[in-house]
Amino acid sequence: MCGIFGIITNQDNISIGKVVLEGIRRLEYRGYDSCGIVSLSNSKLYIKKDSGKIEEIQKKIDLADIPSNSKLALAHTRWATHGKPTRINSHPHTDCSNKIAVVHNGIIDNFIELREELTQEGHIFKSETDTEIIPHLIENKLKEGLNLKDSVVEALKLCKGAYGLAVCHVDNPDLIIVVRKESPLVIGIEEGKTTYLASDIPAFLPLTRKCYIMEDDELAVLKAGEAEFYDIKNDKKIDKELQIIEWNINAAEKGGYEHFMLKEIFEEPSALKNTMKISEQLLSKFANALLSADNIYITAAGTSYHAALAGKFIISRFLGKHIQDIECSELETQLKGSLQNNSVIIAISQSGETIDTIEAIRWAKKTKNVIILTITNVVGSSITRYSDHVIVTNAGPEIGVAATKTYSTQVLALALIAVSIAKIRNIISDEEIIKYYEALNGIPSIIEKFLEKNVDLIKYIVNNLEKNLNYFFLARGISIATAKEGGLKLKEVACRFIEGYSAASAKHGPISLVREGFPIIFIAPPDETYNRLVGNVMEFKARGGRIISVVVESDEKITKLSDITIRIPQPADEYHNLFSPITFMPALQLLAYYAALANDLDPDKPLNLSKTVTVH
Ligand code: AGP
Repeated sequence: MCGIFGIITNQDNISIGKVVLEGIRRLEYRGYDSCGIVSLSNSKLYIKKDSGKIEEIQKKIDLADIPSNSKLALAHTRWATHGKPTRINSHPHTDCSNKIAVVHNGIIDNFIELREELTQEGHIFKSETDTEIIPHLIENKLKEGLNLKDSVVEALKLCKGAYGLAVCHVDNPDLIIVVRKESPLVIGIEEGKTTYLASDIPAFLPLTRKCYIMEDDELAVLKAGEAEFYDIKNDKKIDKELQIIEWNINAAEKGGYEHFMLKEIFEEPSALKNTMKISEQLLSKFANALLSADNIYITAAGTSYHAALAGKFIISRFLGKHIQDIECSELETQLKGSLQNNSVIIAISQSGETIDTIEAIRWAKKTKNVIILTITNVVGSSITRYSDHVIVTNAGPEIGVAATKTYSTQVLALALIAVSIAKIRNIISDEEIIKYYEALNGIPSIIEKFLEKNVDLIKYIVNNLEKNLNYFFLARGISIATAKEGGLKLKEVACRFIEGYSAASAKHGPISLVREGFPIIFIAPPDETYNRLVGNVMEFKARGGRIISVVVESDEKITKLSDITIRIPQPADEYHNLFSPITFMPALQLLAYYAALANDLDPDKPLNLSKTVTVH
């Protein structure tokens, strides 16, 4: 996820530099590892870009370098996906003649093939990004004699993937072309004077409340104070309704959600779709490294450790080898004296900056000949320096301190490695592999359906539980990871001591806490542990426990024993069960979120916590 902002005006009293810097700063929540601006004046592009947070870059950008007579500018804040966060990889990107500049949010899936073709034709590339192919493709189309708008359309016909993009050209100083496909774009208007474009409304909200929301496959030709819209598929003009935005700037930054945590829970379906795009080649690198290892460890902290527990379970199904999970802070102590050469460590960290995780893998690398396989959400983060192979989950920036969408995408990345192993080992039939992929591809829509229909139920459960300071999440098998992560979310944001525990182990001690009305939330997908879990539910019910269960839609047995059920709209088969840590988790994340609100706590800023833990 990146942020783009642009302006085209006919007003003399506007400082273009100030407006774009201010606009892009309001989009910093969409990405903040590099930033760039292009302005246009006297048939020349003026580009300023660098890596780092916008605040740091703002100090370096001399507004005097942005020509005062410039009436057009584009800006970009980057969340790196293809290529490290460096100055060269920052947007805008240009063509060979330095006449076309492009800022882009999204991913061009077939950029490697296109880049090869363009290189053979003689185009010179400066960056490692997917975006840079776009100005070069437009350059080709302009050479064929098309105008700028048609060149953009024809160039994009060659690109597969997602884009919200803006293009300017030195020979067309009075227009900007913007196109949207699966990456948001909104257009703000001060009629007759100034037009703004942005990835999100807050960027221009202090300047105008009038805006057009672009839909997929729409192109807009922006001129000062006016905008024309076209359907990119048939080039027909579209009449769009001008909208008046009533939100305040604070609500707007969160896309209309009250908190980032809620926004990020609702972003899980799209984040998971991005993670599904991890290349088969990279997955098989991970799979082959695991297949040839003598010993395998999986390590992480907090939520990432819970993703490791779920992932270890899924991978072990197909790997035919044991994977030992170790919390990263304990790895050195536990493996001192026993770590062997030819070991593989899977390290998971959404931030890529957790010092305990980094030190664990640094120690392992120094001690023996080990391979580090890393899963992170941040391209170029510190952990990647010590890793042999890196999967980036591409969940987009996560601002809420409590990890939500980064958790589900980590588990998905591990699940994709697992299925890749099954394919390489040829241990299940092709039909079964297809069924696993169908189940994986179906996850985003299961979560979408769940979120659409269950917010009121979750709020009701929070009210129902409100008087209880303590309760349990209990589960068996793979769902123990879900129970533990649910417990952690409630501790973090709702400041409640809620424990995630093994349902089988609970009778060896914790059951003594149960009194009449004591709540227990059972995580109960219909997997091989289900019948035993039914027995556990009965044990707790017999002692007066109030049973709330998270089950699949067709569930009967545990539903009958429960006071309240949360139903996940997914089929009851082994393929979906294996990925239930992903599909069942949003229910518990929402529960934690609304429990925080019920306790008058800010879920985005939990007490004593920070998003990135860089201390021991
Ligand atoms: C998650 O909600 C927590 N904020 C925390 O447990 C976190 O998962 C842990 O600090 C690890 O962070 P990482 O994934 O960035 O390494």
